[in-house]
Amino acid sequence: MGPHPQLNKNGELQHLLTTEGLPAAILRHILDTAESFTGVTERDVKKIPLLRGKSVFNLFFEPSTRTRTTFEIAAKRLSADVINLNMAVSSQTKGETLLDTVDNLSAMHADMFIVRHSQSGAAHLIARHVRPEIHVINAGDGWHAHPTQALLDMFTIRRYKQDFHTLRVAIVGDILHSRVARSQIHALTTLGVPEIRVIAPKTLLPARVERLGVHVYHNMTQGLKDVDVLMMLRLQHERMKSAHLPSTEEYFKYYGLTPEKLALARPDAIVMHPGPMNRGVEIDSEVADGAQSVILPQVNFGIAVRMAVMSILAGN
Ligand code: CP
Repeated sequence: MGPHPQLNKNGELQHLLTTEGLPAAILRHILDTAESFTGVTERDVKKIPLLRGKSVFNLFFEPSTRTRTTFEIAAKRLSADVINLNMAVSSQTKGETLLDTVDNLSAMHADMFIVRHSQSGAAHLIARHVRPEIHVINAGDGWHAHPTQALLDMFTIRRYKQDFHTLRVAIVGDILHSRVARSQIHALTTLGVPEIRVIAPKTLLPARVERLGVHVYHNMTQGLKDVDVLMMLRLQHERMKSAHLPSTEEYFKYYGLTPEKLALARPDAIVMHPGPMNRGVEIDSEVADGAQSVILPQVNFGIAVRMAVMSILAGN
Protein backbone atom coordinates (compact mmCIF):
# COMPACT_ATOMS: atom_id res chain seq x y z
CA MET A 1 0.00 0.00 0.00
CA GLY A 2 1.29 3.52 -0.80
CA PRO A 3 1.39 6.46 1.65
CA HIS A 4 -2.34 7.12 1.03
CA PRO A 5 -4.30 4.47 2.98
CA GLN A 6 -6.59 3.60 0.08
CA LEU A 7 -4.36 3.97 -2.98
CA ASN A 8 -1.67 1.55 -4.20
CA LYS A 9 1.81 2.64 -5.26
CA ASN A 10 0.49 3.41 -8.77
CA GLY A 11 -2.12 5.79 -7.34
CA GLU A 12 -4.97 3.35 -8.07
CA LEU A 13 -7.76 2.44 -5.68
CA GLN A 14 -6.67 -0.46 -3.44
CA HIS A 15 -9.39 -0.04 -0.81
CA LEU A 16 -12.37 2.33 -0.57
CA LEU A 17 -12.33 3.79 2.95
CA THR A 18 -13.37 7.45 2.60
CA THR A 19 -14.12 10.07 -0.06
CA GLU A 20 -11.75 12.47 1.73
CA GLY A 21 -8.64 13.04 -0.36
CA LEU A 22 -9.78 10.86 -3.27
CA PRO A 23 -8.75 12.51 -6.55
CA ALA A 24 -11.57 13.81 -8.78
CA ALA A 25 -10.38 11.50 -11.57
CA ILE A 26 -11.02 8.43 -9.39
CA LEU A 27 -14.45 9.71 -8.35
CA ARG A 28 -15.38 10.37 -11.97
CA HIS A 29 -14.03 6.96 -13.05
CA ILE A 30 -16.31 5.27 -10.49
CA LEU A 31 -19.34 7.29 -11.67
CA ASP A 32 -18.58 6.59 -15.35
CA THR A 33 -18.08 2.87 -14.68
CA ALA A 34 -21.37 2.80 -12.75
CA GLU A 35 -23.09 4.42 -15.73
CA SER A 36 -21.92 1.51 -17.89
CA PHE A 37 -23.42 -0.99 -15.38
CA THR A 38 -26.91 0.53 -15.19
CA GLY A 39 -27.86 -1.38 -18.36
CA VAL A 40 -27.04 -4.75 -16.73
CA THR A 41 -29.95 -4.22 -14.34
CA GLU A 42 -32.37 -3.91 -17.28
CA ARG A 43 -31.29 -7.17 -18.96
CA ASP A 44 -33.03 -10.56 -18.68
CA VAL A 45 -29.74 -12.13 -17.54
CA LYS A 46 -28.46 -9.64 -14.97
CA LYS A 47 -24.94 -11.06 -14.67
CA ILE A 48 -21.46 -10.28 -15.96
CA PRO A 49 -18.37 -12.36 -15.12
CA LEU A 50 -15.99 -9.66 -13.81
CA LEU A 51 -15.75 -11.15 -10.28
CA ARG A 52 -16.22 -14.82 -11.21
CA GLY A 53 -14.32 -17.03 -8.75
CA LYS A 54 -13.89 -14.21 -6.20
CA SER A 55 -15.26 -14.37 -2.65
CA VAL A 56 -16.85 -11.25 -1.18
CA PHE A 57 -17.46 -11.27 2.59
CA ASN A 58 -20.16 -8.96 4.00
CA LEU A 59 -19.19 -8.07 7.60
CA PHE A 60 -21.97 -5.91 9.04
CA PHE A 61 -21.58 -5.22 12.76
CA GLU A 62 -24.40 -2.62 12.64
CA PRO A 63 -27.90 -2.92 11.15
CA SER A 64 -28.41 -2.17 7.46
CA THR A 65 -31.12 -2.62 4.85
CA ARG A 66 -29.96 -0.75 1.74
CA THR A 67 -26.17 -0.99 1.88
CA ARG A 68 -25.92 -4.67 2.77
CA THR A 69 -28.54 -5.77 0.25
CA THR A 70 -27.26 -3.68 -2.64
CA PHE A 71 -23.68 -4.84 -2.02
CA GLU A 72 -24.92 -8.43 -2.14
CA ILE A 73 -26.91 -7.82 -5.35
CA ALA A 74 -23.97 -5.96 -6.91
CA ALA A 75 -21.48 -8.74 -6.06
CA LYS A 76 -23.84 -11.40 -7.42
CA ARG A 77 -24.37 -9.42 -10.65
CA LEU A 78 -20.58 -9.45 -11.03
CA SER A 79 -20.71 -13.28 -10.53
CA ALA A 80 -18.83 -13.28 -7.19
CA ASP A 81 -19.52 -15.75 -4.39
CA VAL A 82 -21.07 -13.73 -1.55
CA ILE A 83 -20.74 -14.75 2.08
CA ASN A 84 -22.99 -12.85 4.52
CA LEU A 85 -21.81 -13.24 8.09
CA ASN A 86 -24.39 -12.84 10.80
CA MET A 87 -22.19 -10.97 13.28
CA ALA A 88 -24.80 -11.31 16.06
CA VAL A 89 -24.08 -15.09 16.14
CA SER A 90 -20.38 -14.99 15.14
CA SER A 91 -17.52 -15.91 17.48
CA GLN A 92 -17.02 -12.19 18.23
CA THR A 93 -19.73 -12.77 20.84
CA LYS A 94 -17.25 -15.21 22.53
CA GLY A 95 -14.49 -12.60 22.68
CA GLU A 96 -12.68 -13.05 19.34
CA THR A 97 -11.06 -9.79 18.20
CA LEU A 98 -11.98 -8.06 14.94
CA LEU A 99 -8.56 -8.80 13.43
CA ASP A 100 -8.65 -12.47 14.48
CA THR A 101 -12.03 -12.77 12.77
CA VAL A 102 -10.56 -11.15 9.65
CA ASP A 103 -7.50 -13.49 9.74
CA ASN A 104 -9.76 -16.53 9.92
CA LEU A 105 -11.90 -15.35 7.02
CA SER A 106 -8.75 -14.50 5.04
CA ALA A 107 -7.64 -18.11 5.59
CA MET A 108 -10.86 -19.08 3.75
CA HIS A 109 -9.49 -17.15 0.73
CA ALA A 110 -11.54 -13.97 1.02
CA ASP A 111 -10.87 -11.54 -1.85
CA MET A 112 -12.91 -8.59 -0.57
CA PHE A 113 -14.33 -7.45 2.77
CA ILE A 114 -17.32 -5.09 2.96
CA VAL A 115 -17.28 -3.69 6.50
CA ARG A 116 -19.86 -1.75 8.53
CA HIS A 117 -18.90 -1.02 12.12
CA SER A 118 -19.95 1.37 14.89
CA GLN A 119 -16.30 2.28 15.57
CA SER A 120 -14.79 4.98 13.35
CA GLY A 121 -11.62 3.58 11.76
CA ALA A 122 -12.63 -0.11 11.80
CA ALA A 123 -12.33 -0.48 8.00
CA HIS A 124 -8.95 1.37 8.02
CA LEU A 125 -7.70 -1.03 10.68
CA ILE A 126 -8.66 -4.05 8.57
CA ALA A 127 -7.20 -2.50 5.39
CA ARG A 128 -3.83 -1.98 7.11
CA HIS A 129 -3.89 -5.57 8.40
CA VAL A 130 -4.85 -7.71 5.38
CA ARG A 131 -2.59 -9.13 2.66
CA PRO A 132 -2.10 -6.77 -0.32
CA GLU A 133 -4.30 -8.81 -2.66
CA ILE A 134 -7.35 -8.39 -0.40
CA HIS A 135 -9.56 -5.31 -0.87
CA VAL A 136 -11.59 -3.58 1.86
CA ILE A 137 -14.66 -1.38 1.34
CA ASN A 138 -15.97 0.80 4.16
CA ALA A 139 -19.77 0.39 4.30
CA GLY A 140 -20.06 2.96 7.12
CA ASP A 141 -17.85 3.41 10.21
CA GLY A 142 -19.17 5.29 13.24
CA TRP A 143 -19.51 9.01 12.59
CA HIS A 144 -16.61 8.96 10.16
CA ALA A 145 -17.37 7.91 6.57
CA HIS A 146 -19.79 6.11 4.24
CA PRO A 147 -18.08 6.48 0.87
CA THR A 148 -20.32 4.29 -1.32
CA GLN A 149 -23.40 6.18 -0.05
CA ALA A 150 -21.76 9.48 -1.03
CA LEU A 151 -20.79 8.04 -4.43
CA LEU A 152 -24.33 6.86 -5.19
CA ASP A 153 -25.53 10.30 -4.11
CA MET A 154 -23.07 11.91 -6.56
CA PHE A 155 -24.27 9.53 -9.28
CA THR A 156 -27.88 10.55 -8.56
CA ILE A 157 -27.05 14.27 -8.64
CA ARG A 158 -25.18 13.87 -11.93
CA ARG A 159 -28.11 11.94 -13.43
CA TYR A 160 -30.61 14.70 -12.59
CA LYS A 161 -28.47 17.83 -12.71
CA GLN A 162 -25.60 16.92 -15.11
CA ASP A 163 -23.05 19.61 -14.12
CA PHE A 164 -21.69 19.81 -10.54
CA HIS A 165 -20.09 23.21 -11.22
CA THR A 166 -23.37 25.18 -11.25
CA LEU A 167 -25.07 23.70 -8.18
CA ARG A 168 -26.20 24.95 -4.79
CA VAL A 169 -26.58 21.93 -2.48
CA ALA A 170 -28.09 21.90 1.04
CA ILE A 171 -27.51 19.10 3.57
CA VAL A 172 -30.16 19.29 6.28
CA GLY A 173 -30.34 17.71 9.73
CA ASP A 174 -28.11 15.77 12.09
CA ILE A 175 -24.75 16.65 10.55
CA LEU A 176 -22.97 16.04 13.87
CA HIS A 177 -23.49 12.27 13.91
CA SER A 178 -23.60 11.75 10.14
CA ARG A 179 -20.86 9.79 8.36
CA VAL A 180 -22.96 10.29 5.21
CA ALA A 181 -22.78 14.10 5.46
CA ARG A 182 -18.98 14.05 5.90
CA SER A 183 -18.53 11.79 2.88
CA GLN A 184 -20.98 13.86 0.81
CA ILE A 185 -19.20 17.14 1.65
CA HIS A 186 -15.78 15.76 0.60
CA ALA A 187 -17.16 14.30 -2.65
CA LEU A 188 -19.20 17.41 -3.57
CA THR A 189 -16.18 19.63 -2.94
CA THR A 190 -13.83 17.48 -5.02
CA LEU A 191 -16.32 17.33 -7.89
CA GLY A 192 -16.50 21.13 -7.98
CA VAL A 193 -19.84 22.08 -6.37
CA PRO A 194 -19.41 25.83 -5.68
CA GLU A 195 -21.88 26.19 -2.79
CA ILE A 196 -22.56 23.59 -0.11
CA ARG A 197 -24.87 24.59 2.73
CA VAL A 198 -25.47 22.76 6.00
CA ILE A 199 -28.74 23.52 7.78
CA ALA A 200 -29.17 22.36 11.38
CA PRO A 201 -29.61 23.53 14.97
CA LYS A 202 -26.28 24.42 16.64
CA THR A 203 -26.48 21.26 18.76
CA LEU A 204 -26.42 19.04 15.66
CA LEU A 205 -23.40 20.59 13.93
CA PRO A 206 -19.76 19.54 14.45
CA ALA A 207 -17.45 22.17 16.00
CA ARG A 208 -15.83 24.37 13.34
CA VAL A 209 -17.82 22.73 10.53
CA GLU A 210 -17.04 25.80 8.34
CA ARG A 211 -13.52 24.40 7.98
CA LEU A 212 -14.99 21.82 5.60
CA GLY A 213 -15.80 24.71 3.24
CA VAL A 214 -19.55 24.74 3.89
CA HIS A 215 -21.91 27.65 4.62
CA VAL A 216 -23.81 27.26 7.90
CA TYR A 217 -27.52 28.05 8.32
CA HIS A 218 -29.69 27.54 11.37
CA ASN A 219 -33.03 28.10 9.67
CA MET A 220 -34.70 26.58 6.64
CA THR A 221 -36.15 29.84 5.25
CA GLN A 222 -32.71 31.26 4.51
CA GLY A 223 -30.90 27.96 4.00
CA LEU A 224 -33.21 26.49 1.36
CA LYS A 225 -33.52 29.62 -0.76
CA ASP A 226 -32.72 28.78 -4.39
CA VAL A 227 -31.03 25.42 -3.74
CA ASP A 228 -30.86 22.81 -6.52
CA VAL A 229 -30.38 19.72 -4.35
CA LEU A 230 -31.67 18.98 -0.83
CA MET A 231 -30.08 16.11 1.06
CA MET A 232 -32.11 15.26 4.16
CA LEU A 233 -30.64 13.35 7.12
CA ARG A 234 -32.15 11.27 9.91
CA LEU A 235 -31.76 12.16 13.59
CA GLN A 236 -29.33 9.48 14.83
CA HIS A 237 -30.78 8.93 18.29
CA GLU A 238 -28.63 5.80 18.74
CA ARG A 239 -25.46 7.95 18.62
CA MET A 240 -26.77 10.75 20.90
CA LYS A 241 -25.45 10.48 24.46
CA SER A 242 -27.51 13.42 25.71
CA ALA A 243 -30.55 15.43 24.60
CA HIS A 244 -29.65 17.50 21.53
CA LEU A 245 -33.25 18.60 20.92
CA PRO A 246 -36.34 19.51 22.94
CA SER A 247 -38.51 16.95 21.03
CA THR A 248 -38.94 15.41 17.59
CA GLU A 249 -42.19 17.42 17.16
CA GLU A 250 -40.25 20.63 17.74
CA TYR A 251 -37.57 19.45 15.32
CA PHE A 252 -40.14 18.74 12.60
CA LYS A 253 -41.66 22.18 13.07
CA TYR A 254 -38.35 23.95 12.36
CA TYR A 255 -36.33 21.48 10.25
CA GLY A 256 -38.81 18.94 8.84
CA LEU A 257 -39.10 19.21 5.06
CA THR A 258 -42.72 20.05 4.19
CA PRO A 259 -44.12 21.11 0.78
CA GLU A 260 -44.13 24.73 2.06
CA LYS A 261 -40.44 24.65 2.94
CA LEU A 262 -39.55 22.81 -0.28
CA ALA A 263 -41.18 25.68 -2.22
CA LEU A 264 -38.29 27.90 -1.03
CA ALA A 265 -35.86 25.89 -3.17
CA ARG A 266 -35.62 26.11 -6.95
CA PRO A 267 -38.76 24.72 -8.66
CA ASP A 268 -36.72 21.89 -10.23
CA ALA A 269 -34.85 21.02 -7.01
CA ILE A 270 -34.45 17.33 -6.19
CA VAL A 271 -34.98 15.84 -2.72
CA MET A 272 -32.62 13.11 -1.55
CA HIS A 273 -32.36 10.97 1.60
CA PRO A 274 -29.86 8.14 2.27
CA GLY A 275 -32.40 6.26 4.42
CA PRO A 276 -33.59 5.00 6.74
CA MET A 277 -36.18 7.78 6.64
CA ASN A 278 -38.23 8.92 9.63
CA ARG A 279 -41.46 10.32 8.19
CA GLY A 280 -42.90 13.16 10.23
CA VAL A 281 -39.50 13.86 11.85
CA GLU A 282 -37.09 15.11 9.16
CA ILE A 283 -39.43 14.76 6.16
CA ASP A 284 -43.15 14.94 5.44
CA SER A 285 -44.64 12.01 3.50
CA GLU A 286 -45.99 14.41 0.88
CA VAL A 287 -42.40 15.38 0.04
CA ALA A 288 -40.85 11.93 0.48
CA ASP A 289 -43.36 10.46 -2.01
CA GLY A 290 -43.69 13.60 -4.14
CA ALA A 291 -42.63 14.47 -7.68
CA GLN A 292 -39.30 16.03 -6.62
CA SER A 293 -38.19 13.04 -4.54
CA VAL A 294 -35.40 10.87 -5.99
CA ILE A 295 -35.04 8.74 -2.85
CA LEU A 296 -35.90 5.39 -4.45
CA PRO A 297 -33.78 6.01 -7.59
CA GLN A 298 -30.87 6.61 -5.17
CA VAL A 299 -31.31 3.06 -3.85
CA ASN A 300 -31.42 1.61 -7.35
CA PHE A 301 -28.28 3.52 -8.46
CA GLY A 302 -26.53 2.10 -5.40
CA ILE A 303 -26.33 -1.28 -7.15
CA ALA A 304 -24.49 0.06 -10.22
CA VAL A 305 -22.20 2.24 -8.09
CA ARG A 306 -21.26 -0.70 -5.81
CA MET A 307 -20.67 -2.89 -8.89
CA ALA A 308 -18.35 -0.16 -10.18
CA VAL A 309 -16.38 0.09 -6.93
CA MET A 310 -15.95 -3.68 -6.60
CA SER A 311 -14.95 -4.21 -10.23
CA ILE A 312 -12.42 -1.36 -10.13
CA LEU A 313 -10.86 -2.69 -6.91
CA ALA A 314 -10.69 -6.22 -8.31
CA GLY A 315 -8.87 -4.91 -11.39
CA ASN A 316 -6.20 -2.99 -9.42
N1 CP B 1 -28.09 4.59 3.72
C1 CP B 1 -27.77 3.51 4.44
O1 CP B 1 -26.60 3.29 4.80
O2 CP B 1 -28.81 2.67 4.73
P1 CP B 1 -28.71 1.31 5.51
O3 CP B 1 -28.32 1.64 6.93
O4 CP B 1 -30.06 0.66 5.41
O5 CP B 1 -27.64 0.47 4.87
